[in-house]
Amino acid sequence: MKRVTIADVRRMKENGERFAALTAYDVVTARLVDEAGVPVILVGDSLGMVVLGYDSTIPVTLDAIVHHTRAVVRGAQRALVVADLPFMTYHKSAEQALDSAGRCIQEGGAQAVKLEGGRPVAGTIARLTSAGIPVMGHLGLTPQSIHQLGGYKAQGKTEAQAKALVEDALAVEAAGAFSIVLECVPAELSRLVTERLAIPTIGIGAGPHCDGEIQVVSDVLGWFSDFVPKHARRYAKLSEAAAEAIREYADDVQGGRFPTEKESVSVPADVIRRVEEAFPIEP
Ligand code: KIV
Repeated sequence: MKRVTIADVRRMKENGERFAALTAYDVVTARLVDEAGVPVILVGDSLGMVVLGYDSTIPVTLDAIVHHTRAVVRGAQRALVVADLPFMTYHKSAEQALDSAGRCIQEGGAQAVKLEGGRPVAGTIARLTSAGIPVMGHLGLTPQSIHQLGGYKAQGKTEAQAKALVEDALAVEAAGAFSIVLECVPAELSRLVTERLAIPTIGIGAGPHCDGEIQVVSDVLGWFSDFVPKHARRYAKLSEAAAEAIREYADDVQGGRFPTEKESVSVPADVIRRVEEAFPIEP
């Protein structure tokens, strides 16, 4: 099966074909996403929040992303797999970014990396792409800068912010990125950016006008019942289904209904008799 390439992703924009992208962090989910025909899988640093239980993406390490990327690549035969470069693994220098991205590609098996930021990281994007490493940009709400942004809030709502975002998007494209995630950006602004770029924009909380849409798979599947981000839609209620299944299992064990002979293996009675004779129960 031929894997989706960055040229395919660009072609989808040229052909006006909207596309879905999803995150995945493990082999089972990656297989499901891949088999559903989703062309782009991101091993996002949202891993930290939706799988590892941190309250931000900041504690996620490069080792963790490489580890989970390997699992996702084993599950996805067709989708383009993008590994997210974690906090402080590409900010110090282009050399550091090359080392980090190199590990995602070489050890993780990803076909591309994603990094957050605009003009300040344009040089790094240029360096990575000239080394043959495809880069997905990420603008708007950039969760690795949560302390600088002062919270998980929509970006680009003032004229100054909106102009800065357009400048950033143009710089990221000029640096060689093959696509850009726009996170929590007003719909009108993402339309404006999408119309001005040749590379696809991929929205999350950015309205309906982007070339593609990306969501965190746990939100789409309903793995959490206590919090659904405004920009997400639950297409399943897996947390409720899983909780019910776990309760039923525990009840069956407690009530002696599981396991039964059906879920057991047996040996011939004479084998057990001889073992019993070898280990008599002391009176
Ligand atoms: O880490 C992530 O899941 C992301 C997406 C929200 C784009 O960056």
